Amino acid sequence: MPSPLGWVHWLVWRDPKRRAQNLLRFAEVEADGGRDIVRAAEVTSDPVLRKLFIKHALDEQRHADLFRGRGLELIRCLPRETAGGVQADWLAPGERGLDDLRVEAEGDADLLAFLHLSEKTAARDFANYVAVLGSDPPTRAVFEKVLHDETFHMTYTRKELDRVAPKLAGRRLWMARLRRFWKAYLRLASALAGFLGAIILTVQYLIVLPLFAWQAKQAAKKEGEGWSPVAPERNGALDRQY
Ligand SMILES: [Fe+2]
Ligand SMILES: [Fe+2]
Repeated sequence: MPSPLGWVHWLVWRDPKRRAQNLLRFAEVEADGGRDIVRAAEVTSDPVLRKLFIKHALDEQRHADLFRGRGLELIRCLPRETAGGVQADWLAPGERGLDDLRVEAEGDADLLAFLHLSEKTAARDFANYVAVLGSDPPTRAVFEKVLHDETFHMTYTRKELDRVAPKLAGRRLWMARLRRFWKAYLRLASALAGFLGAIILTVQYLIVLPLFAWQAKQAAKKEGEGWSPVAPERNGALDRQY
């Protein structure tokens, strides 16, 4: 019997169209994360980290290719009328990589801490998706391959964090947790703002505007047709502006 969260994952991945949408979105995120990690390899002065970051970036690019390939395969199998209208799904976040972190502004330790948490979350999420994708073995196989790499990313980032900042690793991880929490809060707040904005604009359009239109029509009915005489006190000579 799946947990309540397991049911959510099952629902999110049940529909082939949504499955394809999520895979294509994951492909973009993985490719974006790969580019950030290439940048991290460029800016680090640590040769061991540079080598690991390059391997990591290649893994992320391969994940992007795997997700894109499977997503396109699923789309090709969809009935023609349901294949359009791809939309993002916030219930299946996938890997967030460096989450728009400015790589140049980070030290190696902060970067490793942030990456470690991100890979850990991705590994947990992908393991959950593997568990609910029994009805789609090819997609499940993609996640299994990716999960294997994410577990390696999670492990090496933690080991390297201990190497480059042996005494401060715990603190760096807590700082990275707080930053991730803050970013998650901002994402939620902007999604909520968008949702509330849509409701308020819809109410204005469907209820407030028709009321004004009705009032304007009522006022127009009271107006006589054609020209109407101006009151004598307002009908002076045109010798001033007002
Ligand atoms: Fe990945
Ligand atoms: Fe990864």
